[in-house]
Amino acid sequence: MDPKPIITVLFLISATVIAAQEYVRPPPRKALHFPWSRKPSSLPQQVHISFAGDKHMRVTWVTNDKSAPSVVEYGTSSGKYSSVAQGESTSYKYILYSSGKIHHTVIGPLEHDTVYFYQCGGQAPEFQFKTPPAQFPITFAVAGDLGQTGWTKSTLDHIDQCKYDVHLLPGDLSYADYIQSRWDTFGELVQPLASARPWMVTQGNHEKENIPFLKDGFQSYNSRWKMPYEESGSSSNLYYSFEVAGVHAIMLGSYTDNDEYSDQYRWLKADLAKVDRQKTPWLLVLFHVPWYNSNKAHQGEGDGMMAAMEPLLSAASADIVFAGHVHAYERTKRVNNGKSDRCGAVHITIGDGGNKEGLAHKYKNPPPEWSVFREASFGHGELNIVNSTHAFWTWHRNDDDEPIRSDQVWITSLVSSGCVAEKTHELRKILTEP
Ligand SMILES: *[C@@H]1O[C@H](CO)[C@@H](O)[C@H](O)[C@H]1NC(C)=O
Repeated sequence: MDPKPIITVLFLISATVIAAQEYVRPPPRKALHFPWSRKPSSLPQQVHISFAGDKHMRVTWVTNDKSAPSVVEYGTSSGKYSSVAQGESTSYKYILYSSGKIHHTVIGPLEHDTVYFYQCGGQAPEFQFKTPPAQFPITFAVAGDLGQTGWTKSTLDHIDQCKYDVHLLPGDLSYADYIQSRWDTFGELVQPLASARPWMVTQGNHEKENIPFLKDGFQSYNSRWKMPYEESGSSSNLYYSFEVAGVHAIMLGSYTDNDEYSDQYRWLKADLAKVDRQKTPWLLVLFHVPWYNSNKAHQGEGDGMMAAMEPLLSAASADIVFAGHVHAYERTKRVNNGKSDRCGAVHITIGDGGNKEGLAHKYKNPPPEWSVFREASFGHGELNIVNSTHAFWTWHRNDDDEPIRSDQVWITSLVSSGCVAEKTHELRKILTEP
């Protein structure tokens, strides 16, 4: 008798049993091992790019050689660089650690939706990136609390498989946690992705690294991850905004003053006053500590910022708010002032990038009425904004090493539901208050 049918049947039964079981959450994975290698001291390392105002990109890299020039040569065909830009550089000391030379060079104006080839400091290798389109559709990859473990690698591999234009990171990058060389290994780990698409980041608690009486906070973060704060009228790298293809994105700081008398709050008001929903119908906001969180981890930590800033963001009709901090995934209905509200924002906690601290498993029960989907697994999200009215959001869980699309939803914009128009007066009033 041919044993094949029996084996097939047995296989099908066992597969069904496995599928029916509850998903078993994987444990944290070990920190990645980065073998030490001697690199030529002028070799560009840790290359990443970020938006630097309309049609411009900032290229950032590190060299051990302190005399290496901060120039970027670039063009639209490989090996032929029709343009060159000169930038600036910085470096910092942290106790016994001395950073390499950190170069920041702004290039442009650049065409939309175009592949550029570039070289840093006149040195091979050549890198390439694609600029985002001028209009919808546009796709954002979103993952926070990355760190540098086996799970981080798995998340980055999955993001690499997707077609996206911009990476959004709501805080907690390297988990260097005072060990400065880990900022260097993190830079190396993300280079393949971050040199090819703009990485727009905001800070989390792991970026602080302050030591009372010795070190102010955010020294490494601000030196290495310079964002377009000057370009967006902000006086601090810890909060800024940018516009891309019909989207106005605001990156806020959970760990810098955010009360009504703060500089950040004043800047936010000024920034919101500049938003034109005809030009940028979608308004996205990112910060680290979630305001709507039904996980037991980090309960209430965002309350102060929420009390100060939610009325402002609600009057401005923010469409989607992304946060990290809690190592799990959660998506809410449209909410405002603690309850569901058709004109509120969708809040998404996506602090599940894969860091060494592992997942946050415990939830408050029963779930609040506003919580739609919550799960403690590592993964990443993709926001595909199709047009001025529709966006498709998916969350991809790292099922072992396969990305599995586990949550998905169409989100319609507040412009299309009439909320933006309904709130015109409320917004004007709040923005003109002294
Ligand atoms: C926007 O995209 C959605 C989803 O594909 C579609 O149903 C809708 O008709 C589009 N709207 C416009 C104005 O093109």
